[in-house]
Amino acid sequence: MNADNAVFLPDALVINVPEVDEQHAGLFASLARLKDRCVESNCLPTEDATKLLEILRVHCATEEAMAREAGLEFSSHTAKHQQMLKGIAKTLDEVREGHTDAFSLIRYLEYWFERHIREEDIGFGLRLQDSGAFDGGGSARE
Ligand SMILES: [Fe+2]
Repeated sequence: MNADNAVFLPDALVINVPEVDEQHAGLFASLARLKDRCVESNCLPTEDATKLLEILRVHCATEEAMAREAGLEFSSHTAKHQQMLKGIAKTLDEVREGHTDAFSLIRYLEYWFERHIREEDIGFGLRLQDSGAFDGGGSARE
């Protein structure tokens, strides 16, 4: 895992699927950078926030592809992804329109990332490993 990003992923949120853990660490690192830039500029760097949402979309698509390749039922997890992406896009619009401040968006992102990993991704990691499509050292996509 990229060492610069690894420090942003708490041990309790490691799901032992390297490709997913790497992306989670990258998401937390991007979020930390976004937070720093918000503090520096006292506003939301819209381009950074949009980029973060795009990284999150790619990440959700990666998990969905891995589940498909492993033959796992993933519809309720996918529904949670859609709900999360929709909620974040809506909050981002509210910040752009001046109805919500940037720090509320960051708190919302932190809350969703952590909750989603705890409630969905940890179990997904276990099911992926049990499926045998994943050997523990690589990913189901290799
Ligand atoms: Fe997920």
